[in-house]
Amino acid sequence: MSKIALITGSSRGIGRDLAIKLVDKGYRVFVSARDEKALNSLSDDVNKSGLINCKSIDLLDSNKVISYINNVLDVGVPDLVVHNLGLYLEDAFDSETSHLDLLLNTNLKVAVQITKLLLPHLKKRNTGHFFTICSLLSKKARREALSYTISKHALRGFHKVLVEELKDSLVKATAIFPGPVNTSSWSGLDVPREEFIQPSDISSSIINLLDNSNYSFVNELDIYSKNSIF
Ligand SMILES: NC(=O)c1ccc[n+]([C@@H]2O[C@H](COP(=O)([O-])OP(=O)(O)OC[C@H]3O[C@@H](n4cnc5c(N)ncnc54)[C@H](OP(=O)(O)O)[C@@H]3O)[C@@H](O)[C@H]2O)c1
Repeated sequence: MSKIALITGSSRGIGRDLAIKLVDKGYRVFVSARDEKALNSLSDDVNKSGLINCKSIDLLDSNKVISYINNVLDVGVPDLVVHNLGLYLEDAFDSETSHLDLLLNTNLKVAVQITKLLLPHLKKRNTGHFFTICSLLSKKARREALSYTISKHALRGFHKVLVEELKDSLVKATAIFPGPVNTSSWSGLDVPREEFIQPSDISSSIINLLDNSNYSFVNELDIYSKNSIF
């Protein structure tokens, strides 16, 4: 039977690339985002094997998340849970508008909710792997990204608690800390995207970690771009 992977926010960018790689490896992959068109295009591209399950959902709607996760569990307990959903918006101490609520909801609370729903099942089975896509801004600060920096620092805190929670279990948790990645997050901005990390660098790193032996796990993984502007 195919292993099951759940990737949040995965119609484009890092999540999309990872979904395609996991289907290639024979995983049954649950992909989610709001834009149905983008999901259909992903499905058209890779679903010849029937291994992709695309769900159009706003993950900020916690009731919908509960029924979505229950639907996934009806198929099986995920072997891989990738907290990839994330939104980058800029604000600062002197900004008129604050994005703090939106970014805490998007970048932190969805991961916490989904983990609470899935954790008992993975712990009971005693295998599986949570990946949390943090950011280098989980470890350092960007003045013009006040709310994003706060939300990603908090996400690292979430990951640390998850590692503690899993101390007596063979379920693994890994946090990835990328620098700038060439995705649509940077659309419209005058930045050298070809010098950034590519989405495939992140997804390949995750795929490689899946080959570790049962008792070995990587806790935190930093991935930098040689472009030192960011
Ligand atoms: N790109 C970077 O430079 C960078 C650097 C460090 C860390 N990261 C982190 O890496 C992760 C992936 O980033 P990315 O650049 O690949 O993102 P992206 O290209 O912007 O893709 C985000 C995905 O999330 C979905 N999404 C957004 N809001 C949603 C919602 N409320 N409900 C459901 N789906 C939603 C989007 O689809 P819809 O809009 O259709 O919903 C899209 O599929 C994020 O956690 C990000 O913070 C990125």
